[in-house]
Amino acid sequence: MSSAETTRAETTQGQPAQPDPVPAAPVGSGPGRAPRRCVCPGSYDPVTLGHADVVRRAAALYDEVVVAVLHNPAKRGTFTPQERRDLIVESCGDLPNVRVELFAGRLLVDVAREVGADVIIKGLRGGTDFAYELPMALMNRHLTGVETVFLPGDPSLEHISSSLVKEVAAHGGDVTGLVSDPVRDALVKRLQEQ
Ligand code: PNS
Repeated sequence: MSSAETTRAETTQGQPAQPDPVPAAPVGSGPGRAPRRCVCPGSYDPVTLGHADVVRRAAALYDEVVVAVLHNPAKRGTFTPQERRDLIVESCGDLPNVRVELFAGRLLVDVAREVGADVIIKGLRGGTDFAYELPMALMNRHLTGVETVFLPGDPSLEHISSSLVKEVAAHGGDVTGLVSDPVRDALVKRLQEQ
């Protein structure tokens, strides 16, 4: 058999062939290619170090990241949407390809479409998160075709959620290392006001 006749399953030396290499994803926004933009949605009330880790990792994977603060106008949160945005900027504002936007009472698929993102990024802290997130990912793909990419949460941050952080802080616990220092200080101040 000439080398032109070799099959994909073997080489000329009779060794198993290596799979075709996956072409490297283009980096940056070169000519002819739209920037790859993703959306990191959440209520971020407030942003935690777990959220910030996911946003940082998304910023390394995509050209542009839109952190979308989705809030329900009927529900009063601990922080106003504007305060949540400011605290996200404090936590992730050093990343040049990340911006933060606020949305009220909107479907996530409409937000993704409006900001021009074809991918939703979600961090997963474990099986419980997956069970909660999977139907939403499938529903969102059903609605507009938008895909959800799950990033495994950093195990050292797996126990962190906004609600647990607030509960700990409300009972006088120290939330240092769970949220950024500005978020910790804002939370302590807000709880003293309430
Ligand atoms: O930080 P959270 O509370 O886990 O964020 C949840 C959020 C805001 C991403 C989710 O509730 C959401 O997508 N809300 C927008 C409304 C929507 O699209 N609902 C249908 C989901 S299939």
